[in-house]
Amino acid sequence: MVDPISPLMPANNESRLIVALDFDNADKALALVDQLHPELCKLKVGKELFTSAGPGLVKELVHRGFNVFLDLKFHDIPNTCAKAVLSAANLGVWMVNVHAGGGVRMMRAAKEALDSYQGGRRPLLIGVTVLTSMDESDLAQLGIDKSPEELVANYAQLVFESGLDGVVCSAKECAMLKSRFGDGFHRVTPGIRPSGSVSDDQRRVVTPEEAMKLGSSYIVVGRPITQSENPRAVCEMINLSLQK
Ligand code: C5P
Repeated sequence: MVDPISPLMPANNESRLIVALDFDNADKALALVDQLHPELCKLKVGKELFTSAGPGLVKELVHRGFNVFLDLKFHDIPNTCAKAVLSAANLGVWMVNVHAGGGVRMMRAAKEALDSYQGGRRPLLIGVTVLTSMDESDLAQLGIDKSPEELVANYAQLVFESGLDGVVCSAKECAMLKSRFGDGFHRVTPGIRPSGSVSDDQRRVVTPEEAMKLGSSYIVVGRPITQSENPRAVCEMINLSLQK
């Protein structure tokens, strides 16, 4: 692991930067993580890496002191979803998420399971509202006669009423969500690009600074860090811009 001492690191593990470990195997993920440090960033493990590397990798990241966001977007019957978030808690993760589309009973079951969790730190439980890949025509195909924006507001309300800790959303939705549900209801925002970097397949991007100004609680950044020649320097630069 690299030298953890850097003047650019936020103190007390409080970085609002979550690095998306979008790799297809553990070796590639760990090669990147070796260059990082828990005070520099948190880590997100999604479906691709989890399906290939499994819970062993998540435990390893937790063991190295990282706050891990297990981004598996659970969506199932209430009992199964509650058991899944408990399994996530047992891995020691810091944050886990479920699809709001699973409904209030599913979200409440997940929340109640975590509320009675005795095994250690209770992870934050976050709701996914509407995937940013979905537009009005995708929703219409599903028989939903609402715009994505209306559905986000509707789902976020249900996530809040179910007692979850926040939502994954676009930075552009943060102001509305913050004013409705308060600052304590977290807003986790992907679609972030430091100025000067390419957008990749993200359609609407904002810079880390803009995301903070718009009211993001945590930003999720993948390729601008994972594909960089100096991932640690990019993390440090982003952390600096978040402190402005
Ligand atoms: O590489 P990039 O910064 O675009 O990665 C963004 C991460 O956030 C990916 O892991 C992606 O799956 C996730 N994400 C997203 N948009 C959403 C929800 C999650 O980009 N609406």
